[in-house]
Amino acid sequence: MKLRVDALSVESPLGQRLLSVPQLDLATGRSLAIRGPSGAGKSTLLFTLSGLLEVTHGSVKWGDLELVGLSDAQRTRFRGENLGLVFQDHLLFEELSASDNAGIAALYTRPAQRAAITRQASDTLSHLGLAADTQRTVTSYSGGERQRIAVARALAAQPKVLLADEPTASLDRETADALIADLLESAGKAKRTFVVVSHDPALIEACDHVLTIEDGEVTGFD
Ligand SMILES: Nc1ncnc2c1ncn2[C@@H]1O[C@H](COP(=O)(O)OP(=O)(O)OP(=O)(O)O)[C@@H](O)[C@H]1O
Ligand SMILES: [Mg+2]
Repeated sequence: MKLRVDALSVESPLGQRLLSVPQLDLATGRSLAIRGPSGAGKSTLLFTLSGLLEVTHGSVKWGDLELVGLSDAQRTRFRGENLGLVFQDHLLFEELSASDNAGIAALYTRPAQRAAITRQASDTLSHLGLAADTQRTVTSYSGGERQRIAVARALAAQPKVLLADEPTASLDRETADALIADLLESAGKAKRTFVVVSHDPALIEACDHVLTIEDGEVTGFD
């Protein structure tokens, strides 16, 4: 699914400008890294692209669908059908196991698709080096393990688009490199468009394009 952003501006509820992006295009199946200092607006952009944040002015189009102006319910539905999200703080359900977290999308889908999601979730978990443990709750997992559970969850429904906020931040170099290779390979195979916020030079280097944001403004794109 391709992305086209035009004259985007995001304001806080109090009307303070947080982010503006004059234009951004990303073709289907391509990868984009978003980099910039802390507080620059990177997560704000990712939230905006996912439709989790209301846009004040401008246009955010995924394929032919304009996100700006949709109702909350319409944006939620679009997200469920098309996007996989990895949040900066993972947002796992503490009282659930790794497998149940990774397969949570099964709860929100049609019965006929549930088994496929659960299977994909446990395949991705084991591929990322985690046993599909259904006994232990995720509270006791390490930061890097939790990060990989969040990635498995985002990929379980095989979304057309993956949006990830610092997915390698808590990983050692070797585990991070393995995850980067996996994410890009699976994106290439599935024609999955991939947008990732990162400080990790290896991940930034591996992406097709890089967008730099500083103080809420785009200062570079290549
Ligand atoms: N609702 C809001 N009201 C006011 N300010 C906000 C709001 N949401 C975000 N901000 C501010 O906007 C700026 C950008 O936040 P954002 O989370 O996008 O930064 P970031 O680039 O992801 O930083 P980090 O690398 O630390 O995660 C921050 O200064 C943040 O405090
Ligand atoms: Mg952030």
